[in-house]
Parts: sequence; structure tokens; C-alpha cells
Amino acid sequence: MPLLSLPCKRLTLAVLAPEQAALESDFYRRNQRHLARWSPIRPSDYHSPENIRPRLEVQASAFEAGLAVHFALLDPDNGQMIGACNFSGITRGAFQACYLGYHIDESRQGQGLMQEALEAGIGYMFDEQKLHRIMANYIPGNERSARLLERLGFEREGYAKAYLSIAGRWQDHVLTALINDRFETPEQRWSRRLA
Ligand SMILES: CC(C)(COP(=O)(O)OP(=O)(O)OC[C@H]1O[C@@H](n2cnc3c(N)ncnc32)[C@H](O)[C@@H]1OP(=O)(O)O)[C@@H](O)C(=O)NCCC(=O)NCCS
Repeated sequence: MPLLSLPCKRLTLAVLAPEQAALESDFYRRNQRHLARWSPIRPSDYHSPENIRPRLEVQASAFEAGLAVHFALLDPDNGQMIGACNFSGITRGAFQACYLGYHIDESRQGQGLMQEALEAGIGYMFDEQKLHRIMANYIPGNERSARLLERLGFEREGYAKAYLSIAGRWQDHVLTALINDRFETPEQRWSRRLA
């Protein structure tokens, strides 16, 4: 059973339990070639169920501690994992922010499924986790990712040189972010109650 399950129109967002490692392993094995261009270089057994399970345990603890939310995108018709969107590095205090990463099965691109997943995930991060800012960064030339972020309302904030080591080399990234206009500080909430 997932730790959290958010049903959407055409898919379900789920925080997987460690026992569900095989689902994730199957997704990454199917999509190894598709994702290689946009991913760090990993050891060949990185996506085996035995190696995924301890990572899901760490992610479950991070979820319980309010430090990260790693969602698997599940196809409700057959339970298969068809993608992932991860809200990680949650920082509280004056920042109230996190980073977003995502990828979808090669054969499920071009159907608006990631947009649907991210609308739900972002809604959850803003309304339930009460974040103020979500940051998402992409390699120049990743046009699908750029279009997706633009449709979701992310705005370009900068350009970072040699930002992440992807596909074996340090690559520049376009930096974007989405701000939660509905965010209220505790003081604003209190004033609204008094008004
Ligand atoms: C980036 C990635 C998630 C984008 O996936 P995607 O399927 O293009 O994204 P969306 O869910 O927003 O789908 C939008 C596309 O579906 C089409 N579409 C079809 N039906 C739709 C619907 N009902 N609603 C919305 N869009 C729909 C849109 O026209 C659009 O196509 P276009 O980009 O050719 O114009 C995917 O390409 C991927 O996993 N890439 C590899 C990993 C990666 O790059 N990750 C990001 C690193 S920064």
C-alpha cells in the first residue's frame, strides 16, 4: 500500500512503500534509454528492486519528516508505474521552498499526463504542505520540459552554468520557479481571522 495516494483524472500520484520497489524498477528498466540523456550516470544495478528498496525507505522517512515528497505516477487501469515527480529539498523557515524533478514513460509522452500529474502534485505541495515556492530547472534544448513548465506558470529566474552533472558532463541549466500566490504567513492568517 502506498503511503499517500492522490487520484487524478487519468492517473494516480502515489508515495510508494518500500515493498513496491519492483514497480519502480520496472519503470526505470523500460525507460533506461529514454531517460539517459537527462539523468546522471548510474551504476548498472542502480534500478534493481534490491537497490531501490532502501532508497524508498529513505524517501518514506523523508516524507514522514516533511523533507521531500517523491510521487510515482500510476496507471489506474493496470497499476503500472508510468512516471515520477519528486518534490525534494523542502526548506522551511523564511524560504518555504523545494525543488521539482519529473519524467514520464517514453510511450506516454504527448498526452498531457505529466501536466495533469504536476497540477495535482503542485496543488498538494501548496495547499497541504504549505510551500511558497517550487523551483524547477532544465537543460537548454529540453524543449518538452520548457513547454511543460511554461504551461504550468513557472517563470524563468536565471541561468546557471555547469549546474548539474547529467549524462556524464556538467551541464548548464535554465532556472525557473512557481510562486504560491495563495500562501499566507501565520501573521496574515491571524489578521484574516480577526478581520
Ligand atoms: C519532460 C516530459 C515529462 C514532458 O512530457 P510531455 O508528455 O511532453 O508533457 P505534458 O504532460 O505536458 O504533455 C504535453 C503534450 O501533450 C499534448 N496533449 C495531448 N493531449 C493533451 C491533454 N489532454 N492535455 C494537455 N496536453 C495534451 C500537448 O499538446 C503537448 O504536446 P506538445 O509538447 O507536442 O505540444 C517528458 O518529455 C520526459 O519525461 N522527458 C525525459 C525526462 C526529462 O526531460 N525530464 C525533465 C528534466 S528537466
